[in-house]
Amino acid sequence: MNQPVMEGLRLNVPAYVKHQRLIAWVAEIAALTEAHEVYWCDGSQAEYDRLCEQLVAAGTFKRLNPVKRPNSFLACSDPSDVARVEDRTYICSAKKEDAGPTNNWMDPAEMRALLQTGQKDGTPALFKGSMKGRTLYVVPFSMGPIGSPIAHIGVELSDSPYVAVNMRIMTRMGRAVLDVLGADGTFVPCVHTVGAPLEAGQADVKWPCNKTKYIVHYPETREIWSYGSGYGGNALLGKKCFALRIASTMGRDQGWLAEHMLILGVTSPEGKKYHFAAAFPSACGKTNFSMLIPPKAFDGWKVTTIGDDIAWIKPHADGRLYAINPEAGYFGVAPGTNTLTNYNCMASLHSNVIFTNVALTDDGDVWWESMSDTPPAHLIDWQGNDWTPEIAKQTGAKAAHPNARFTVSAVNNPALDADWDNPAGVPIDAFIFGGRRSTTVPLVTEARDWVEGVYMAATMGSETTAAAAGQQGVVRRDPFAMLPFMGYNMADYFQHWLDLGKKLADSGATLPKIYCVNWFRKGADGKFVWPGYGENMRVLKWMLDRIENKGHGEEHVFGVTPSYADINWSGLDFSQEQFNTATAIDKAAWTTELGLHKELFQQLAYHLPAELPATMSKIEQRLAAE
Ligand code: GTP
Ligand code: SPV
Ligand code: MN
Repeated sequence: MNQPVMEGLRLNVPAYVKHQRLIAWVAEIAALTEAHEVYWCDGSQAEYDRLCEQLVAAGTFKRLNPVKRPNSFLACSDPSDVARVEDRTYICSAKKEDAGPTNNWMDPAEMRALLQTGQKDGTPALFKGSMKGRTLYVVPFSMGPIGSPIAHIGVELSDSPYVAVNMRIMTRMGRAVLDVLGADGTFVPCVHTVGAPLEAGQADVKWPCNKTKYIVHYPETREIWSYGSGYGGNALLGKKCFALRIASTMGRDQGWLAEHMLILGVTSPEGKKYHFAAAFPSACGKTNFSMLIPPKAFDGWKVTTIGDDIAWIKPHADGRLYAINPEAGYFGVAPGTNTLTNYNCMASLHSNVIFTNVALTDDGDVWWESMSDTPPAHLIDWQGNDWTPEIAKQTGAKAAHPNARFTVSAVNNPALDADWDNPAGVPIDAFIFGGRRSTTVPLVTEARDWVEGVYMAATMGSETTAAAAGQQGVVRRDPFAMLPFMGYNMADYFQHWLDLGKKLADSGATLPKIYCVNWFRKGADGKFVWPGYGENMRVLKWMLDRIENKGHGEEHVFGVTPSYADINWSGLDFSQEQFNTATAIDKAAWTTELGLHKELFQQLAYHLPAELPATMSKIEQRLAAE
């Protein structure tokens, strides 16, 4: 019998679970955390519905108007738990150098004492008794199609039913995963607690969490331990923790890439199809770009979504790079999303959605900033307060938190690519890197070669957003849009990209082109110069022309850029002067910018590939000669 009984706690192992090591680990964590009971998620619709009802009863969820938003819910978090916590995120590799200077590091033994075993001075471990009075949910999940050779399995043990239902949308979750795992398959163990144990008789709150937070990764043993937060990337451990931080170290060891990238397909009116993978920092346009609807002038062109946040990219025997989306849903930014900026996204949100930290309308629907031109006359804001446009004007109160999000299945997306869950992935024709920069960085630049492209990606800067706790709008270096998500030393990661390019080139393959874009440049009036969103198709089209060797471009200081005449402006009123504002390269600004690149290289001096400072010297020389 698979029913070991612990003192006062039944493990409730379903008969279909054959994996003794998994059962033993669940028993160990249940004992450590003193969970009240254990529940194994089977991933069924009935289970999802039941857990959602339970979340409604607990006050965590509010069921939305079933006519306006069928089978959809609103959760509002504790105001202290609204985004990723980068300063509480740790890479606990054996050696500090392997985490590198961009990550927080603690000795693994010290971290284990803090979280799991208790400290020498007698301070109990944070996880000790952390699930008292709560159910421990066993959440088996697959990143990538279940059973596919490119997929990897994880099991998250969490005391949050909110996490369990979100994981069902974001990953392939449930019994089918355990069937693949069999009796001794490998999985990444992920332990998560909100860190809010309940004593007997103690009433729960609607969003339990803890002021103390730790988001911890052990790259060598491929383990994740997350304490104190129930929100997004801190708690849905398949996403940033596994599919980026742990997977990036797997990719380093096994010769592939785990990237913070969308994947899109673009098909011409003649039916020719290309694929792009694009890295933008958090809340800088991946979801939008991956669901783009081309403007009228591009009649017959189609953009389809493979993924909106994460790409796993592997070299294939044919010499090309193939990308898959390891996720099954979107955890996307709500504010700013509307039928004009992202029609496909709005269409995806009609039913079966979990909204977090948006506002509630008087008729039981949701609203967020810029969802409509005219806000409703009255709302309940994400913190539960009355909100009117007048109140907002007086106090600046936001209806939705700027990092409010929706969780929705990929299959809701009308622009979903037919190959979105093809285990073979899609061949990548070009990479795009784009930061949020109100100055300095031009609309689009093509790298002359792989090394120059890696340089562009490595030195990318971006203004911080609400996706992470901390100050917003400050320019920081965000190499490859991976700063918060690197599982190992950033300089070694640059080397990994250079090595991969060399390996592909040596095999005689044509390497994907690399581009750097900036949709966010502002004019003297403080407004975005570039219209963005669907109009980004015009930039995409120039890239396609270049890929097909028919697009004109001009060489300049750090790459190749289109001139005004090289872009199709049909149907858009965008003057040469506006184009200049969006693309101008200011010598003084670039001198300052290169100083920031140099600072980054000083920070990353250990193991920094020599090609990068060498590329910088060439740019400096060209700039000096301007
Ligand atoms: P994460 O899920 O945090 O990784 O973010 P993401 O990269 O998917 O960002 P998303 O597409 O959700 O965009 C976030 C914000 O950027 C929203 O407020 C959008 O309105 C805004 N945005 C997206 N694309 C554009 C664009 O082309 N131009 C401008 N000006 N804003 C954009
Ligand atoms: C990001 O911050 O890049 C996200 C959202 O995609 S979260 O999953 O919360 O990290
Ligand atoms: Mn992201």
